[in-house]
Amino acid sequence: KEYLSTKFVGRNICYFDTISSTNMEAKRIALKNPEGTVVISEEQAKGKGRLDRNWVSPPKKGIWMSMILKPETEPTKVAKITLLGAAGVNKALEDMGIYSKIKWPNDIVIDGKKVCGILTEMSCELNMINYVIMGIGINVNMDREDFSENLINKATSLKIEQNKEINRKELLAGILNRFEEFYIPFKEDNEISEVIEICKKNSALIGKKVRVIKDGETKTGKALDINNEGQLIVMFEDGSIENIFSGEVSVRGL
Ligand code: BTN
Repeated sequence: KEYLSTKFVGRNICYFDTISSTNMEAKRIALKNPEGTVVISEEQAKGKGRLDRNWVSPPKKGIWMSMILKPETEPTKVAKITLLGAAGVNKALEDMGIYSKIKWPNDIVIDGKKVCGILTEMSCELNMINYVIMGIGINVNMDREDFSENLINKATSLKIEQNKEINRKELLAGILNRFEEFYIPFKEDNEISEVIEICKKNSALIGKKVRVIKDGETKTGKALDINNEGQLIVMFEDGSIENIFSGEVSVRGL
């Protein structure tokens, strides 16, 4: 709390030593708790990643948290919240002298390896959002042994990259501070231009070959840019250009 300067994000914190998944808990308590509530646990027994993957969450070595948000926008705008989160993490790391890249739309990478993943889920009815849960997992002080053999080529931790332990509380507060700074203009005026600038400037994808998996179909192309709506602009091998809304995008050759 000594590092926190927010108005509402992280002002209500539900803390656990261990839990199955902070996203699941956040969903359970979302309607009874105010916007900005953060569910955080030292460890997750069943951390969830995207596409039904699991998320390795060993005790006291990461930041495993979920934020409860209640924006009064249409469900289609929710994809942008993930970008606000990614920009928040990227900026908070930069504030601590750690330089990372944003792999649109959900991942933060260092040296091509994943240090952070974001899983945004929402509940809505009749085109109205009940709540949004943004789950953020950051591999902070994990050692090599904490990653399985097939993960170590794709994932890393801040400690491994920086050769030193990182203060998790300071980083957590930094993320909440930065996120709120980006979330308020989004919520009030649908304004995300600063976030788009950050996502473009620190993009791990722009200029690279990408593989886009959409409706089970895989196409390769080159990521050209991110537009003002936060969509990835891709030129495919047949020369066609498409704005990618969300879905799974993976980089080739990383
Ligand atoms: C991904 O890259 O696949 C997303 C990973 C999201 C992991 C975080 S950890 C905190 C929150 N609780 C979960 O069960 N998952 C998210």
